[in-house]
Amino acid sequence: MRLLVATRNAGKLRELRGRVGGLEVLSLDDVAPMPEVDETEDTLEGNARLKALAAARASGLWSLADDSGLFVDALGGAPGVHSARYAPGTDADRVHALLRAMEHVSDGARGAAFRCVLALATPDGEVRFARGECRGEILRAARGTQGFGYDPVFLVPALGRTMAELTLEEKGRLSHRARALDAVAPLLDALKA
Ligand code: IMP
Repeated sequence: MRLLVATRNAGKLRELRGRVGGLEVLSLDDVAPMPEVDETEDTLEGNARLKALAAARASGLWSLADDSGLFVDALGGAPGVHSARYAPGTDADRVHALLRAMEHVSDGARGAAFRCVLALATPDGEVRFARGECRGEILRAARGTQGFGYDPVFLVPALGRTMAELTLEEKGRLSHRARALDAVAPLLDALKA
């Protein structure tokens, strides 16, 4: 059975592919061009739903879309749903903007969570959700070269390493996306059946 993963983000696709067994995983680059979806909603659920539904309707395939973000306690949950657009430029520019915004936040108050919502849509418009969260702390400088986005400044306290210092397998066990994928597995079993 085929599953369309509605993303062009190579980092996310790598993580999702590593986890979805027994299904042929296609990305948006493997199917006919489809309209870009603007992330106009102000919740992860809303945006994941928009992306999954658009992909499923256009392709006729069961489609999985994720929306995720970094929610920093001391910033009232920012950058949150706006994580990808928090500052113009590259991931490194956004990490820099985050570190500046948190310059005056003390060491004990730098808690944050990565959150992920997966929406699984059928071609006839039914949508189910799965969620995952991973808590950590925002460091004062970047460490590590793996992963993407805010990984280099997100410390996983239990391991004493940043997300960017984990192997793909390690991140694939504990990340917000991994946990959401655990939750979506029973829904995907329905597709395989
Ligand atoms: P979207 O889900 O594509 O709208 O964007 C989510 C944004 O949140 C990404 O562009 C990253 O900035 C951030 N993000 C989401 N998941 C991760 C992750 O696993 N590591 C680092 N940053 C992430």
